[in-house]
Amino acid sequence: MNNDHNGENEKFEQEETLTNRQGHPVTNNQNIRTVSNRGPATLENYDFIEKISHFDRERIPERVVHARGAGAHGYFEATGMAGDEPVSKYTRAKLFQEKGKKTPVFVRFSSVIHGGHSPETLRDPRGFATKFYTEDGNWDLVGNNLKVFFIRDAMKFPDMVHAFKPDPLTNIQDAERFFDFCANSPESFHMVTFLYSPWGIPANYRQMQGSGVNTYKWVNAEGEAVLVKYHWEPKQGIKNLTQEEAEQIQAKNFNHATQDLYDEIEKENYPEWDFFVQIMSDDAHPELDFDPLDDTKLWPEDQFPWLHIGKMVLNKNPEDYFNEVEQVAFGTGVLVDGLDFSDDKMLQGRTFSYSDTQRYRVGPNYLQLPINKPKTNQATNQRGGQMSYYVDKAPGQNPHVNYEPSSLGGLKESEQSGKEHTPKISGELVRESIDRNDNTKQAGHTFREFEDWEKDELISNLVNDLSTCAKVLQDKMITLAESADDEYGKRLREGLANARKEEGVHKGRPLGDKDGDDAPGHAEQM
Ligand code: HEM
Repeated sequence: MNNDHNGENEKFEQEETLTNRQGHPVTNNQNIRTVSNRGPATLENYDFIEKISHFDRERIPERVVHARGAGAHGYFEATGMAGDEPVSKYTRAKLFQEKGKKTPVFVRFSSVIHGGHSPETLRDPRGFATKFYTEDGNWDLVGNNLKVFFIRDAMKFPDMVHAFKPDPLTNIQDAERFFDFCANSPESFHMVTFLYSPWGIPANYRQMQGSGVNTYKWVNAEGEAVLVKYHWEPKQGIKNLTQEEAEQIQAKNFNHATQDLYDEIEKENYPEWDFFVQIMSDDAHPELDFDPLDDTKLWPEDQFPWLHIGKMVLNKNPEDYFNEVEQVAFGTGVLVDGLDFSDDKMLQGRTFSYSDTQRYRVGPNYLQLPINKPKTNQATNQRGGQMSYYVDKAPGQNPHVNYEPSSLGGLKESEQSGKEHTPKISGELVRESIDRNDNTKQAGHTFREFEDWEKDELISNLVNDLSTCAKVLQDKMITLAESADDEYGKRLREGLANARKEEGVHKGRPLGDKDGDDAPGHAEQM
């Protein structure tokens, strides 16, 4: 363990007086007050009771996903351009307009499925969430390292997370639960292909990409919109781990990614990312074999080039982990003028979920905390709620008027800063999947793009985990791989057949039948 970061503790030689939260000096922090030094304690032990009862409440609920994270402060610097064109052609968002314009940011990286102190070497997507404190208020870009996702409809998210988290009975994470969900949700196959390759274990947070994953819109001064995808590209290069490398790191250090980020920033070796967008006109694009609103798909780079719009530098560690990294609250609904939502169904579902969970996880006034508070003035008519400690009001506002409209000095609506984007929408209200829902074509392409060692790792990691699963799930995954790419399917089929031969017996434990005797298709594999 490396606790003394370059003798940092020597800086703090002056001893300050310990007080309680009422400002009273604490004269004895070693002993509770008792009747004689062996005697029973008295109930008026104010300092002791305050100390213990605050300690009892130190934890807040951990994030339901992305519980383990690390964060840092920095800035975003714009190029003023989107590729060769002025960025104003596509968006009026102020933070992008001028070359060299800097906007402060806070970034939180995370793993997804496991709890707050889980190892940072596990196979899992990584979160990459950025809060931009812009002059128009906050913008949050809540992304991941991988550019696609497991599902394309928000309705499925709680089931997906349940399947990936530990078993509700044993509290053990089980590959069979994971593959039970994925084999029966074939849209996940592209994401599974990335996740089981080395891209599923980034070496650290500094050497990984980021992506907004969902499709957003940009809106210009005329109210015209385009569809956009966001990408972060690390200037440190990209580095991913084999399963074996990850296991070696995990044996010695399960905080390696947090430590790497903290130590490199302390050494002033500040990590940087270039920021890119891909742009499409705002329509359904029937000429494409995928829907631009489908987050299980990549937008091919040759058709939709990456346009450089800026860079980000992380140059300051948090002063307190809990206050900043734990209490920071990002949400996909947090956009500024010139940025808009698309009809991506995942994005719409996410947008409800984030602020809803944060009102529960952090509290209804989570936006008053310094890490979440915009650096611009806030003037609302919201009042009260747990832990409210100031009124967000405009300097000249009549303090008696906490409603709108009013002629007595209350707040007024702002002017629209450009023409509003008003898309026309019509259709029948339905519960249906999108039409273009091919699940395997891009996964095949992704497989063929992998280097040989990445393909080897993918097959070996899939075989390793799938060989513990029921045959019915193995068969479904083989069918998906075969439909993606001949070599992919063949290697997975052979790998699983060999694993079965080596085992001699089926290792799979179908849920509800731990002996596996009456698993569907079980007889053929013996
Ligand atoms: C965190 C919901 C899909 C990236 C969270 C949290 C919830 C959530 C409830 C915890 C937030 C908190 O406690 O502050 C959902 C739902 C989804 C979805 C309902 C789909 C319908 C996605 C996707 C991505 C993503 C597609 C990737 C682009 C993240 C990240 C965090 C997060 C990075 C951690 C934010 C942080 O560091 O505080 N999500 N999510 N989520 N989600 Fe999602």
